[in-house]
Amino acid sequence: MAIDATLGNALNEQINKEIYSAYLYLTFADYYEDRGLKGFANWYMIQVEEELAHAKILRRYLLDNEYQVKMLAIAQPDKTFTNDMDPLIAAYEHEKYITASINECYTLAYEQHDFRTMQLLDWFVKEQGEEETNASDMIKNMELFGNDAKGLFELDREYQARAFTAPAMSM
Ligand code: FEO
Repeated sequence: MAIDATLGNALNEQINKEIYSAYLYLTFADYYEDRGLKGFANWYMIQVEEELAHAKILRRYLLDNEYQVKMLAIAQPDKTFTNDMDPLIAAYEHEKYITASINECYTLAYEQHDFRTMQLLDWFVKEQGEEETNASDMIKNMELFGNDAKGLFELDREYQARAFTAPAMSM
């Protein structure tokens, strides 16, 4: 079934936003690598994998629904960080922006009575809930433990344990 052009274009742009997210989180990982916090860097490298997986899910969906996918230009991330909290706050703000973007796609699907796309986006709505919770938790953990060297060391070790699990969606 061919997808509505406006909705298709919005999902195509969402692919771009997800790949930009991966690009953005690469710069976060770079910051923490430079600081010697390899656990934090690992967390964001796993996040890069997650974002690329999100992009691939959307690409597969559009291809399966007769939409000609276009790879759009990826913007250069422009964030600069002065302390270890900055990337965590930027990540939370970015995830809220992505949630709003997913919600806009959902609104378009809803207006079209496109129940198939709504079902796809249900997964993204849930995923964004988890993304925001993770980002918010990282800020709280840093507030609680980040000012103490031992606490920061323990946090870094915890984030080192994060591993990538591919989402249970067809790509
Ligand atoms: Fe794909 Fe972090 O949203």
